[in-house]
Amino acid sequence: MNRSTKTRYAIFQILIEIFKKNKSFDVVFNQKIAEFNFNKNEISFINNVCLNSMRKSIHCKIILNKFIKTKLKANEFILLSSAIVQILYLNIKPYAVVNETVNVSKQIKVFPGFVNAILKNILKNIENLKKIELKLTDFPAWFVDEISKCENVDPYSFIDTFHKQPSLHLVFKSENCLDNFEEKHTRSSKKSAFLDIKKKISDIKNFNEGDWWVQDFSSMIPLAISNKIKNYNILDICAAPGGKAFQILSNNKVVLNDINNKRILKLKENLLRLRFDAEIKNLNALDFVEDKKYDIVLVDSPCSSIGTIRRHPEILFKTEKPNFVKLNEIQKNLLKKSSRLVKRKGKIIYMVCSFFHSETTKIIKQFLEENKNFSIRKYNQNTKLLNIKNLISKEGYFLTLPTKFKNYYIDGFFSVELIRND
Ligand SMILES: C[S@@+](CC[C@H](N)C(=O)[O-])C[C@H]1O[C@@H](n2cnc3c(N)ncnc32)[C@H](O)[C@@H]1O
Repeated sequence: MNRSTKTRYAIFQILIEIFKKNKSFDVVFNQKIAEFNFNKNEISFINNVCLNSMRKSIHCKIILNKFIKTKLKANEFILLSSAIVQILYLNIKPYAVVNETVNVSKQIKVFPGFVNAILKNILKNIENLKKIELKLTDFPAWFVDEISKCENVDPYSFIDTFHKQPSLHLVFKSENCLDNFEEKHTRSSKKSAFLDIKKKISDIKNFNEGDWWVQDFSSMIPLAISNKIKNYNILDICAAPGGKAFQILSNNKVVLNDINNKRILKLKENLLRLRFDAEIKNLNALDFVEDKKYDIVLVDSPCSSIGTIRRHPEILFKTEKPNFVKLNEIQKNLLKKSSRLVKRKGKIIYMVCSFFHSETTKIIKQFLEENKNFSIRKYNQNTKLLNIKNLISKEGYFLTLPTKFKNYYIDGFFSVELIRND
């Protein structure tokens, strides 16, 4: 196999494993890359094609249905959609894509003549095929069901942008660090900015100085708009790899906890680079002793992660849906535990990178029904800090879909502050 065929073969292997075995992209990608001796450019190419093949997989399904009337096998669908993505959306020279795709088809026992014929048909229709628009019914049934339950959510705001590359957003340790930042950027607040260039994270200026960390605009908002968080004892029960905690570490005493050992190592690496110091625990939050109480408990709970669909496009690509029963159980249990760890007049900040009703408002309504000593402290819609008025609901929640904000693509996120009144 020549190198070019090898890269396409690796792309196929990564995608088929995610598709069939419901694995996460990062895990499969790192494993496969370690198996072959790829150079930097090849790795970046494989990464780009894989991510975009997953982002555009619904588009590809519609395109393939136009040319093929029989049901495609999984390996045919994966191989052809990665070729379509290279031709239609990544502007790679079509003849090279067709040649390499036919080469791979011979390795994976897909009939080369079939692949060649389909791709030739696609080449004749490139401009029309680029104009394809998705409808809600093109999405997996579980997704249609979940999004239909979300009040005041326009599904088309999601459908129109979920497949775009995410914008890179940095949060700075201080206003001074942002004032002195030399890369091309657009400010999103006094201490945060969207990056206007594409660069490897570790090559961005002042990475080693620890002046900033990567955190999406929407996931930065809850702690940025909260009443001044200063001089408090805080417990972050799901802390790794650390974005939310970094926003409050300089002004408070924060205990950082996470159940996952590997993520704790990443958290420690981040703390070292950012020159922050904090007490770290590696426990199941449900096992925390309840004798010590905190002013604030942060619950950045595990969830379907649908808000981060651009970074994790496998969520809609995998054959299995997220395990909502299990996730909702974890969300409820973490909230219940937090209610026992927070002081009187203290607060819980519940956050998820999801906009689905079952992981957001439903969990909160149920919690408030079972815990009459808690109530919502509404976020202030008139925050001067950020122009996000329509992202705060009348009930006081912060909620956004993965969408376009000004010229940037931001994640979906939900948060609410719950005050303990007794
Ligand atoms: C959404 S992530 C947290 C992101 C983090 N707050 C940040 O800003 O970078 C959820 C985290 O919860 C952790 N987690 C899941 N179940 C947990 C449990 N029972 N106890 C403690 N941590 C848990 C996961 O390992 C994961 O790191």
